Amino acid sequence: MKVTVVGAGNVGATCANVIAQKDIVNKVVLVDIKEGTSEGKSLDVWEAAPINEYSTRVVGSTNDYTQTKDSEVVVITSGLPRKPGMSRDDLIATNAGIVRSVTDSVIKYSPNAKIIVVSNPLDVMTYCAYLTAKVDSKRVFGMAGILDTARYRAFIADALNCSPKDIQGMLLGGHGDTMVPLPRYTTVAGIPLTELLPKEKIDAIIERTKNGGGEIVNLLGTSAWYAPGAAAAQMVEAIVKNENRIYPCCALLNGEYGYKGIYLGVPVMLGKNGIEKIIELKLDAAEKALLDSSANAVRQVMDVLDKQLSAVAK
Ligand code: NAI
Ligand code: 2OP
Repeated sequence: MKVTVVGAGNVGATCANVIAQKDIVNKVVLVDIKEGTSEGKSLDVWEAAPINEYSTRVVGSTNDYTQTKDSEVVVITSGLPRKPGMSRDDLIATNAGIVRSVTDSVIKYSPNAKIIVVSNPLDVMTYCAYLTAKVDSKRVFGMAGILDTARYRAFIADALNCSPKDIQGMLLGGHGDTMVPLPRYTTVAGIPLTELLPKEKIDAIIERTKNGGGEIVNLLGTSAWYAPGAAAAQMVEAIVKNENRIYPCCALLNGEYGYKGIYLGVPVMLGKNGIEKIIELKLDAAEKALLDSSANAVRQVMDVLDKQLSAVAK
């Protein structure tokens, strides 16, 4: 089985490396436009195989999509990352051009692939890939919720001085400052979080989670890659092993949660067909109001993309 990762930068190379270490596919093809980058990083990952004990062959390709033919899953990480002071939405025009051309090439050689978008602004780039790929939306979805809940879970683990392994959390909405972490749906070894931490502490963790991407951008001058790469690899694993794992992912809604025609983060079941099912949680009025405002924010950026695409089409 073959998986392709497009973009051999920080997130893409990390994702390819994590997939290889999981030893779940025969081959990972890493594609980039920069001559030598994907080849060099792939060779480095392959040379780690005897040490880390995996058989997955990682190969690089400078923009040659024939090598990606018949991929089961394609992860798209190509695009500019955020710089300090930049919002995710500032990236829209440049990254939409990149995501469109990459999606065209991917679908040409792997018409049955499941496509995981990572490029920002995430919800709208996933929509952009969906418009370009012209395949069932169950096969085009985005990675953000696993990363955002991982940050949320890590901060909870810090607050409780416990292992992050015992924390389960759920989060809805767009990948941005309007995301909606859900303390009512968060547990620590089965114990409701609300019984373990006071409201003020939970509120502070939620705020830190919402700004989790920006916190790293401010420290590093570019956006995160270890957790994002691992999160995308976890989605790949759920698909290639047909695990039916339940994760928050960016999916096209068709009436779920009261929204139509919008890509938004919701819990989904991930298996061999991509999104096997979208799970609808019961929300209280406050949670629904927060989700409405997140959906509005995403919708506004989707409108920007729609306008840009219709200008290109004229
Ligand atoms: P990076 O700059 O390290 O890597 C991007 C790579 O894409 C570069 O190697 C570049 O040469 C390549 N690229 C550009 N145009 C291409 C094309 N047409 N075809 C193939 N490759 C192309 O950036 P990084 O840190 O890896 O981030 C990648 C994207 O992921 C950014 O848009 C970033 O904002 C986003 N991101 C999204 C996250 C999420 O939660 N969804 C989390 C972290 C990053
Ligand atoms: C992140 O959340 C910037 O989307 C990127 O790290």
